[in-house]
Amino acid sequence: MKLLDLYAKMKGELNAIERQLEAAVAEDESLLGESSLHLLQAGGKRIRPVFVLLAGRFGDYRLDELQRVAVTLELIHSASLVHDDVIDNARTRRGQPTVGAKWDNRIAMYTGDYIYAKALELMTQSRNPDLHRILARAMVQMCIGEMEQVRDFFNTEQSVRNYLRRIRRKTALLIAISCQMGAVASGADRQTSNLLYQFGYNTGMAFQIRDDLLDLLGTEKQIGKPPGSDIRQGNITLPVLLALQEPDRRDALLAEIGSIRESEGRGDTHTAIHLIRSSRGVAVAEEMAERFTSKALAALAGLPALPAKKNLSDIAHFINKRSY
Ligand code: IPE
Ligand code: IPE
Ligand code: MG
Ligand code: MG
Repeated sequence: MKLLDLYAKMKGELNAIERQLEAAVAEDESLLGESSLHLLQAGGKRIRPVFVLLAGRFGDYRLDELQRVAVTLELIHSASLVHDDVIDNARTRRGQPTVGAKWDNRIAMYTGDYIYAKALELMTQSRNPDLHRILARAMVQMCIGEMEQVRDFFNTEQSVRNYLRRIRRKTALLIAISCQMGAVASGADRQTSNLLYQFGYNTGMAFQIRDDLLDLLGTEKQIGKPPGSDIRQGNITLPVLLALQEPDRRDALLAEIGSIRESEGRGDTHTAIHLIRSSRGVAVAEEMAERFTSKALAALAGLPALPAKKNLSDIAHFINKRSY
């Protein structure tokens, strides 16, 4: 099933979110407006706003507050991507040049800051201190996660635990709070918002493991950027760590990663990618994504049988198998 089919019933609400996203950044200074719109208009799956809206169905659906939270979280996600692309030295995102590639990295840093600021400006309209607290804490953790990624570039000795802690911060938390904030914004009870948080967290872990697999297995058309970007940048992801645990390929893979490092990302990555793809690492990483998805579905089981529950479960299944 395609994501668009899963979103079909929410079309009206999502169109409103698109307009609000553009409106949030389109004013003020023209260059920042332009560079921000460049990323927003390149599309994206809009998974976080969708989670906010669906989680809101478990309370007394407050459309204004929910839309605000949904737009805020998509803006925070977008800002983090602009900064992430600077850190990862990425030239393409969503099939388009990154802000750094189209303008330059200085403009990208301020475009990211600007989008963050716009997100916070929008949130000031919310009177619920819990929402502000949840958001601020997650943003702090995301920064730490991204910093950990920089610290761990080319660190082939890191543990799988280390990897999981990093992706929890950089990715899973924002998805977790998308679900939690949707519930809180609609006045859902504590147990409901906790279960939705658990659902989002586990789906978010599967989401990033899939992202890391796609970087190794996907095509440029599917992922909107050249595959192999992670290893080129020294981002040692789960399948790589697992492949490194295999005695028959460890030394060869270490040597390849070493030469990618020496070439500062300009060297050939084919052999490294082949060694990883042909290892057990791919299947084991897929199993781990599967396990997180099962946990997400188990959290959903505790929620009342609303249509939104089926939507969330379909999206979790989609994420677990996603190819874009
Ligand atoms: C990309 O997120 C960054 C990760 C957390 C893996 P998405 O895959 O949600 O990006 P878009 O918004 O759909 O482009
Ligand atoms: C996710 O990590 C980035 C953020 C959470 C900001 P990646 O570096 O894997 O994301 P992509 O692959 O560039 O989209
Ligand atoms: Mg990146
Ligand atoms: Mg990635």
